[in-house]
Amino acid sequence: MSEFKHFQAHPLHPTFAAELKGIDWPNITPETVSEIKAAVDKYGVCVLRDTGLDDEGHVALSRQFGDLDDIRRFIHPGRKMRYAHYELFDASNVDENNELLDLNSARAHANRGNGLFHSDSSYNPRRASYCLLRAAILPPPNTGGATQFADSRAAFASLPEPLKSTLLTEDYVGAHTYAQSRKLGSPEFFAELAPETFSMARHRITQLHEQSGRMTLYVGAHLHHIEGLGAKESDELRDYLKEWLAREEFRVTVEWKQPGDIVIWDNRSTVHRAMGGEFEGKFKRDLRRTTVHDDGLGAWGLNESGEGFPSFNMAEKKLGEVPQAAARIVAA
Ligand code: OGA
Ligand code: MN
Repeated sequence: MSEFKHFQAHPLHPTFAAELKGIDWPNITPETVSEIKAAVDKYGVCVLRDTGLDDEGHVALSRQFGDLDDIRRFIHPGRKMRYAHYELFDASNVDENNELLDLNSARAHANRGNGLFHSDSSYNPRRASYCLLRAAILPPPNTGGATQFADSRAAFASLPEPLKSTLLTEDYVGAHTYAQSRKLGSPEFFAELAPETFSMARHRITQLHEQSGRMTLYVGAHLHHIEGLGAKESDELRDYLKEWLAREEFRVTVEWKQPGDIVIWDNRSTVHRAMGGEFEGKFKRDLRRTTVHDDGLGAWGLNESGEGFPSFNMAEKKLGEVPQAAARIVAA
């Protein structure tokens, strides 16, 4: 008997990720969606091919996973929208006039941070549970542009001792900011950006993933430091854990095949990154993403529940106080 009633799950890796085949997209029901959610809780990453969904359908499907985040906090108030839905984050290399983004533009430099393993929204007081990323326009086949995932549950489980026990005993808190990953992604462009001047979101480094009852490692490119440690110790542990999670054995690469493909992941049990390739600077890759607010126990981490989200538009108002390069994040 198949594990699920409304589709078959074909694992893509020994420890996580599956492609769900046989979904009746034109007649999708709430029962199918709740089974998809169960599959994401189990596998961390689920690939849905050729869904036929447009922006409207993508947002409607996403709403069934929870409350959605809104992109207005992240964009320059003057930025022209390419589409009507504020729930869709623009993960494309396309500018506001639908032209290929200039590789030297501020936004292209900011996008480079997405090439490092990260958990979306870990820099927010309320983190993200699921993301649904959909291909709208893809570059030609074999020119790159895949998305790669890493399994935070398997990475935690196989951590060497005594480090694993130390992490459980110390229960460290990580401080996250978007500025950290932007700087790591393009250090020269963001040379004057000082991540330590930004407000940080605080989330535990090791956490129970309620949906599966397994522990996870909650680290990634937005992680700036680990509280309670000296700067050197914090940097060393942060980098060790990030590199551990990025080990080859925990990774799976998802190739995008056609517009309408959707990948759903759980940001609490996986991290991901955009892969580069020959298409860069030559072909459009237009991916759009919805982000679901976490409503689980660890959603707000050690931040005050209901705390305002850091807004990179707000940073603009404080330009006198923040380094000039922060303005580039605002422009991104
Ligand atoms: C994202 C992201 C990866 C990609 O949308 O959150 O990191 O492959 N995208 O574009
Ligand atoms: Mn991302």
